[in-house]
Amino acid sequence: MTPSADALTQGYIREHDQLGAGLAALTDALDRLVQGADPAAVRALGESRRFLRDVFVPHAEWEELTFYPALADLVRTHGDPNAAMYIDHREILRRIEGFVALAGRIEAGERDPALIDRARILAYQIQALVEAHEKKEEEIHVALMRRHLSDREQVRALSLGDQLGHD
Ligand SMILES: [Fe+2]
Ligand SMILES: [Fe+2]
Repeated sequence: MTPSADALTQGYIREHDQLGAGLAALTDALDRLVQGADPAAVRALGESRRFLRDVFVPHAEWEELTFYPALADLVRTHGDPNAAMYIDHREILRRIEGFVALAGRIEAGERDPALIDRARILAYQIQALVEAHEKKEEEIHVALMRRHLSDREQVRALSLGDQLGHD
């Protein structure tokens, strides 16, 4: 029997939850290795490496092959083409809020190594998200703008950003 659309959608979202759990296991293994290279943590690291190769990468490949192309027209017609960018901003800003709170405590004199470590991890997360986000802005938005907008239109598009500030 062919599974229903609803069952497949739920399966897709469940797969994301599983990827999240696999990534949590990966960071957990690394956290344990930082404490000391116990054999269980080394084994967990190996499992995580296999998870990335055997589960995570195929998921992304399938999305590029099947899921995104199937929905491209829909996004173009009914979606907001910038929705993904706003979601990036939301996720970056959420982490910045967390970082600012931790940095404030460190600046105020708290020296708990766990606190500093959490701030350090957030800083790397912010850096990675911003890196990917700016690649999208430059490889998609800037490239399209250069190709399709007049100089005047480009100036208009960019000058508002200057007034507001942008990342
Ligand atoms: Fe995905
Ligand atoms: Fe941005």
